[in-house]
Amino acid sequence: MKICVIYHSETGNTRHVAQHIGSVYDAKLVEVRETANHSRITRFLSWCKMARGEELTPIEPAGIDVSTYDLIVFGSPVWAFKPTPVIHAAIIGLKGCEGKRAVAFGTHGGRPGQMGETLIRWINNRGMGILGIAEINQKDIENDKKTKALISLIESARKA
Ligand SMILES: Cc1cc2nc3c(=O)[nH]c(=O)nc-3n(C[C@H](O)[C@H](O)[C@H](O)COP(=O)(O)O)c2cc1C
Repeated sequence: MKICVIYHSETGNTRHVAQHIGSVYDAKLVEVRETANHSRITRFLSWCKMARGEELTPIEPAGIDVSTYDLIVFGSPVWAFKPTPVIHAAIIGLKGCEGKRAVAFGTHGGRPGQMGETLIRWINNRGMGILGIAEINQKDIENDKKTKALISLIESARKA
């Protein structure tokens, strides 16, 4: 089964979990970055406002083609209790995703809020079937017992 992990990470927590998936499976990792510039002083508030409003932002790479993959895994930090505008833009811009299976995870500081339900809605809106969501506290990213729930989801997708 070919797995593509598409993720956004600003401070490395989500990247760490994505790389863990990459070490367990022979998965393609695609890190998506925001190309818009924000002032370092005001960006926390801008990011929170944009995340709350489920806004989109310019990203690189844009228009990721997943047509050759069987399972897509999405990873996002939680910002203001939601997934980030970067992962939103990545999902909106996907090519060849209709009918694919998907799993998603978010890393957070203790309050994931509506991260899960929002990601499910975005993924379903693009015609993918979501198999499950994992919420991982940033303090647990190196804890195999805590990341096991995510690995189990991927494992069930592989067996389905
Ligand atoms: C703009 C911003 C907003 C955040 N909002 C939340 C939040 O609502 N709930 C929470 O638990 N953590 C929140 N966090 C913490 C991040 O979700 C957490 O540190 C995450 O693991 C960061 O992932 P990254 O290192 O891959 O960028 C926020 C962080 C930032 C920068």
